[in-house]
Amino acid sequence: MEVAKKILITGGAGFIGSHVVRLFVNKYPQYQIFNLDKLTYAGNLENLMDIEGQSNYHFIRADIADEQAVKQVFAEVQPDAVIHLAAESHVDRSIKDPTAFIYTNIIGTVNLLNAAKDLWKAEHRPDDLDKHLFYHISTDEVYGSLDNGGFFLETTPYDPQSPYSASKASSDHFVRAWHNTYKLPVVISNCSNNYGPYQFPEKLIPLCIHNITHEKPLPIYGKGENIRDWLYVVDHARAIDVIYHQGKTGETYNIGGFNEWKNIDIVRLLCQIMDKKLNRAAGESEKLITFVKDRAGHDLRYAIDANKVMHELGWQPSLQFEEGLEKTIDWYLSNEVWLNNVTSGNYQKYYEEQYG
Ligand code: NAD
Ligand code: DAU
Repeated sequence: MEVAKKILITGGAGFIGSHVVRLFVNKYPQYQIFNLDKLTYAGNLENLMDIEGQSNYHFIRADIADEQAVKQVFAEVQPDAVIHLAAESHVDRSIKDPTAFIYTNIIGTVNLLNAAKDLWKAEHRPDDLDKHLFYHISTDEVYGSLDNGGFFLETTPYDPQSPYSASKASSDHFVRAWHNTYKLPVVISNCSNNYGPYQFPEKLIPLCIHNITHEKPLPIYGKGENIRDWLYVVDHARAIDVIYHQGKTGETYNIGGFNEWKNIDIVRLLCQIMDKKLNRAAGESEKLITFVKDRAGHDLRYAIDANKVMHELGWQPSLQFEEGLEKTIDWYLSNEVWLNNVTSGNYQKYYEEQYG
């Protein structure tokens, strides 16, 4: 009988990670999926309630910044592959307190690389994607800001501007160094801004949905003219599936939806859709828009050229932005309990009692 492939997914209780775990657990019953997560404020097992109890899904609470804990997980699980999403992910938090970003995003990634290298060292076969793979999930923010037009290509030089993007850029470099030096089979993808269900309501879209619902101010940094390239989270998870199975070792793939929006235009669109859904007069929610002090070092524009993943691996986004936004708004409006629990820290109190 064929032995089930064991995939360790880090950060699987977070926003994107929970969509990746769900997709892999449901689509590949022949794999054993191990979700390693510290359960920070951004990680919630509630995000995975629908797959809890499935025989190919396992949860491990651990901190990737803790070298011994990572070694122990690798010794116990003996994963064949790693999909690494665990990170501190919010730019504003990185500006206020960068230290956690250095521990988790840099040291945590190096701990995982070392553990994979040590476990797989007898079998380093960089071209053998079927056997082992360290797949690192990264961001378009490593490329810096596109102030003068153009798109981010896989060959665009790194130019990170925030403590968050500097920590992600650093982790990308370590992943490539482990490939180059130790022949660890790796692949990296750099994605644009994600939106969709289960995103912690500190990021622009869920924050505004939450605040529109409760008639609170909608804080727009600066003039709201900064541009981001938005992708529905399930489409990112689908791209990760494609790259995991068909990507070439040592390669980088940019993921994005060719879907650029100014922040102010997104917030206005959210207001218009939600006025209708909440039976408010047209223009009512827009009154909540409040221009506030700009984010320090605020990158002006991100835009991904996703032609490589589209043409070489055949991936395409499945949803138009308006359709994705509608689905996202509907999800948040019908998941008030989730929203209240994540914003009040109720889940965290429960996990502390359960796991210590
Ligand atoms: P998130 O903040 O929603 O989730 C992060 C997860 O990592 C949480 O479950 C958290 O508990 C876990 N985690 C944090 N520190 C940990 C540690 N020390 N040990 C173990 N687990 C830890 O983040 P997200 O938005 O889902 O992003 C996931 C990954 O995708 C990150 O690597 C991020 O850089 C990258 N990314 C995010 C976006 C985006 O728009 N959100 C876009 C491109 C790339
Ligand atoms: O580009 C990918 C990145 O997208 C990911 O790597 C990050 O993990 C993810 O957090 C996201 O980073 P951003 O900083 O682009 O996302 P955020 O939702 O925080 O902000 C989006 C834009 O909206 C940005 O220009 C800042 C602005 N903004 C944000 C917030 C939270 C506001 O104007 N007001 C706000 O309250």
